[in-house]
Amino acid sequence: MRGLSARVLAGCAAAAAAISDARADLLGDFALQKVLQASTQIFGEFSIAISNTSAVAAPYETWMSTIPDDTPLARLNIPGAHDAATWNYTAATQAALSYATRCDGDAPYPAQVYRTQRLSIHSALSAGIRFFDLRFAFDPVDDALVFWHGAALLSVRSSVEDVLFAFYEWLGSHNSETVLLSFQYEGGTKEGASFDARAQAQLVQILTSGAARAYIRQDGGGRLGTLGESRGKVVLLRRFDLDDEDVQARLPGLHMGPSLWPDNDKDGFALVYNETTNATAYIEDYYEPADLGNNSTVSENVAAKLDAVRAHLEKAANATATGDDADAEGGEEGDSLFITFASAEHNANTPPVFPETMALGNGTEVTPDGGVNQQLAAILRDMQGSRLGIVVLDFFEEPEDLVGLVIGS
Ligand SMILES: *[C@@H]1O[C@H](CO)[C@@H](O)[C@H](O)[C@H]1NC(C)=O
Ligand SMILES: *[C@@H]1O[C@H](CO)[C@@H](O)[C@H](O)[C@H]1NC(C)=O
Ligand SMILES: *[C@@H]1O[C@H](CO)[C@@H](O)[C@H](O)[C@H]1NC(C)=O
Ligand SMILES: *[C@@H]1O[C@H](CO)[C@@H](O)[C@H](O)[C@H]1NC(C)=O
Ligand SMILES: *[C@@H]1O[C@H](CO)[C@@H](O)[C@H](O)[C@H]1NC(C)=O
Ligand SMILES: *[C@@H]1O[C@H](CO)[C@@H](O)[C@H](O)[C@H]1NC(C)=O
Ligand SMILES: *[C@@H]1O[C@H](CO)[C@@H](O)[C@H](O)[C@H]1NC(C)=O
Ligand SMILES: *[C@@H]1O[C@H](CO)[C@@H](O)[C@H](O)[C@H]1NC(C)=O
Repeated sequence: MRGLSARVLAGCAAAAAAISDARADLLGDFALQKVLQASTQIFGEFSIAISNTSAVAAPYETWMSTIPDDTPLARLNIPGAHDAATWNYTAATQAALSYATRCDGDAPYPAQVYRTQRLSIHSALSAGIRFFDLRFAFDPVDDALVFWHGAALLSVRSSVEDVLFAFYEWLGSHNSETVLLSFQYEGGTKEGASFDARAQAQLVQILTSGAARAYIRQDGGGRLGTLGESRGKVVLLRRFDLDDEDVQARLPGLHMGPSLWPDNDKDGFALVYNETTNATAYIEDYYEPADLGNNSTVSENVAAKLDAVRAHLEKAANATATGDDADAEGGEEGDSLFITFASAEHNANTPPVFPETMALGNGTEVTPDGGVNQQLAAILRDMQGSRLGIVVLDFFEEPEDLVGLVIGS
C-alpha cells in the first residue's frame, strides 16, 4: 500500500508539504483505502485471498515470475477474461441499478445475456488471468467513465479510474507480473451516448495521470515488447479512436481501433497495430454463430464456435514453427500477437444460448460433450507445449484446470 500511495499521491504530498511526512503518508494510505473500496463492485474485494473464496487454487498467482525477462509478450500463452467487469451482473444487480440504467427502467434483456464471468477481477488476477477485456462509457448522468456491457450498466460506484488504481495496487504487490488491459468504448449503452469530446478528454486524463504514467508502460506506443520491460506495469490495448490524432499518437500501448476490428469474423483477421513496423495481431472474435440461423441447437452453436477457436489456436501453434527472427516485431506471423476469443453467445437463438450456456453447456442431456470450455480443455490437453497466444475466456474457472492448460505449465 505504502509504495503506491507514495507514488500516486506525490501531488497530494507536495501540497501538504507543511505537514509532516508521517501524516501525509497516513493520509495517503487512507486515500488509497477509499479508492480501493470504491473499486470493489467491479474489481472485487482486495482483502480476501482467492484460496478462501472459491474452489480455484492459486498456483498461478505469480506465474510470470519464472519466465525470462527477454521473452516477447507475443510468445507467451496468456489466459484472458472476456467482459471481465460483468462478474456480479445478476438479476439482483440489474434490478438494483434499474433506476439508473437508461434513466428510465431496466436493461432490455435478462441479466444472463450480459454476464460472462462469475469471479471478480481480483480473483482472476490471483487465478493467473493476465488479459482483461473492459468496456467503458459515461455513467447515466455523463459524469464519470464507468463499465458497461451493451445496455447493461455494471456499477455506478466503481469508476474506470478507481478500477485502474486497484490494478496499479495489485501490480505494486505482484511486480513480477504484467497485465494487458483492453479498453473498448462501449456503444449502445444509453440513448444518444457517444464517445464525444468530453468522454475522450476524461479518458485521456485517466490514461496520462501521474499514477498512469507510473503504472502503464510508457514507451511511445505501437510496440508490444518483452515481459521484462512490462513487469509491474499495465500494457494497454486501445479499442477506441480519438478525434485528435496527435493526442492519440502520444497515448501508451497498442492502438486497435474499432475500424480495424471486423465484426463477428468467423475466420479471424489480421490487425496491423503499427503501420511503420507492420506489427500485427491475429484475432479470432467470432462471438455469435449467427449463420446457423436462430433455430439451432446448443450443441451446434458450441461446435461452430469451437471450430473457429481450434483453427485459430492451430494457426498460433504453427506460427511458432515458422517464426524465424524473435527480435523483429514486424509482420512476420512468427512474431505476431495471437488473440483467440473462446467467448461467444447466441442470445437470439431459440433456445437462447447465453454466454454461460455457450461456455459451460446445459447439462448432459442438451450438451453431452459440454460447452466450449470443457471441449477447449480437451483441445488444450493435446496442445500442451504449443504456442497459443492470448486465449480469452468466459467463466474462466470452469473446468478448474482451464487456466493452467492455457498457461501450459
Ligand atoms: C483464510 O481465512 C481464514 C479465516 O478467515 C484465515 O485465518 C486464513 O489465514 C485465510 N487463508 C488465506 C490463505 O488467506
Ligand atoms: C454483487 O451484487 C449484489 C446484488 O446486487 C450486491 O448486493 C453485492 O454487494 C455485489 N457485490 C459487490 C462486491 O459489489
Ligand atoms: C511504431 O513503432 C515504431 C518503432 O517502435 C515507433 O517509433 C512508432 O511510434 C510506432 N507507431 C505508432 C503509431 O505507434
Ligand atoms: C509493411 O507492409 C507494407 C505493405 O505490405 C510494405 O510495403 C512495407 O514495406 C512493410 N514495412 C515493413 C517495415 O516491413
Ligand atoms: C435471428 O434473430 C435476430 C434477432 O432477432 C435477427 O436480427 C436475425 O436476423 C435472426 N436471424 C435469422 C437467420 O433469422
Ligand atoms: C424458429 O424459432 C422461432 C421462435 O421460436 C419460431 O417462431 C419459428 O417457427 C422457428 N422456425 C423454424 C423453421 O423452426
Ligand atoms: C498447422 O500445421 C499443420 C501441420 O503442418 C497443418 O496440418 C495444419 O493445417 C496447420 N493449421 C493451420 C490452421 O494452419
Ligand atoms: C437448459 O435445458 C433445460 C432442459 O432442456 C431447459 O429447460 C432450460 O431452459 C435450458 N437452459 C438454458 C439456459 O438454456
